Amino acid sequence: MRTRVVIVGAGPAGLLLSHLLDRAGVDSVLLETRSPQYVLGRIRAGVLESSSVDLLTEVGLGERLAREGDEHRGIYLQWTEGQDTERHHLDFVDHVGRSVWVYGQTELTKDLMAAREAAGRQAHYEVADVALHDVASERPSVTFTDRNGRRQRVEADAVAGCDGFHGPSRAAVPTSVRRTWERVYPYAWLGVLADVAPSTDELVYAWHPEGFALHSMRSATVSRLYLQVAPDEDVAQWSDDRVWDALATRLGHGRNGWSLEQGPITEKSVLPMRSHVATPMRHGRLFLAGDAAHIVPPTGAKGLNLAIADVALLARALTALLVDGSPALVGSYSEDALRRVWRCTHFSWWMTTMLHTVPADRGDDFDARLQLSQLRWVTSSHAGAAGLAENYAGLPIGF
Ligand code: FAD
Ligand code: DHB
Repeated sequence: MRTRVVIVGAGPAGLLLSHLLDRAGVDSVLLETRSPQYVLGRIRAGVLESSSVDLLTEVGLGERLAREGDEHRGIYLQWTEGQDTERHHLDFVDHVGRSVWVYGQTELTKDLMAAREAAGRQAHYEVADVALHDVASERPSVTFTDRNGRRQRVEADAVAGCDGFHGPSRAAVPTSVRRTWERVYPYAWLGVLADVAPSTDELVYAWHPEGFALHSMRSATVSRLYLQVAPDEDVAQWSDDRVWDALATRLGHGRNGWSLEQGPITEKSVLPMRSHVATPMRHGRLFLAGDAAHIVPPTGAKGLNLAIADVALLARALTALLVDGSPALVGSYSEDALRRVWRCTHFSWWMTTMLHTVPADRGDDFDARLQLSQLRWVTSSHAGAAGLAENYAGLPIGF
């Protein structure tokens, strides 16, 4: 097979890239190890920042998002000390004039798959043995075994590595030029999806001596909730009752007249937390985008938005190269994308370390005092609130 761009991985990054290239008249082929049903069933991110929403709308993917998504002006930040819980609303629109939208990654994936099918683009699902070849040359190729067991080769002008954190693309950048940075955090999230109306109109991020909790949502009838747990936590130890008890405690059930509604839990899993950045994001004609190049801890809701911003820059660069014959944007892709990657890496680390309790290993609660001081500052100072709001609601894609 021959195409202009072979895209490895059909998560949000790969699917959106194929859509953006298609709009620019650039042919692509998508390769994915999983089935479409598996990709659609993965419960992951839920918040789109304003620049992601603007981009999706501009490229014809905003219709269902506008109809079924939920625009939020901001978030609640809260903390509990002794018997007292303080909950503050931080209004992004007031502070920076931008909002965010709650729209599940599963819904966005559904829209992207429908757009790809409507355009009649080629996608190969359930492939195996994916290997990248000659990526430093102008004629790279990718080999794989298709779902019928046939070996195939796709030759292209460029390879887009959109295959997430565990895919093979990042390793195709030679170790002599690759540099990585990593932080593994001493906690994880237990995430649950529940068939119950959200008990809040906007997300609640809660600091609690027993650990962080987050109340998010997917729709008027489905809630998404998270609890800080140990990194090696066994999900089998968390009965539904135990999950609801911990959520009620940490989210301040019964305090200030607020209570948490409970309902049947339909999904439960533990998510490890790490920051990881791999550079460069381009090697020859191989371009990394999304989780293939970087992972952030989920606290700032940035993972999906970073994947969208990467492919927006990448589609522009590949179109300039393959349609206009101009290599400048391809040459600066890694640097351009990494400016935003590092900003989001810092913000995600900052939100994470502000909100998660750490074991007091020196016999005092120094970290907790700093966290509470920081929370008081961002909820009482315009400058503090505006900094959080600007980063959470998202910087322009070209930042
Ligand atoms: P992915 O969505 O990982 O897509 C990569 C695709 O490549 C996958 O479909 C994979 O099957 C495929 N692939 C892998 N290997 C190969 C191969 N060899 N050949 C072909 N295809 C391959 N972010 C948030 O902002 N908030 C959250 O709450 C949140 N929760 C998350 C929970 C989990 C369990 C995980 C893993 C991530 C979560 N994220 C969250 C992060 C967010 O979902 C990701 O940042 C986002 O999915 C990145 O999109 P992507 O397309 O780059 O990568
Ligand atoms: C969700 C996930 C996040 O990581 C976050 O910061 C906010 C919301 C969610 O899954 O809804």
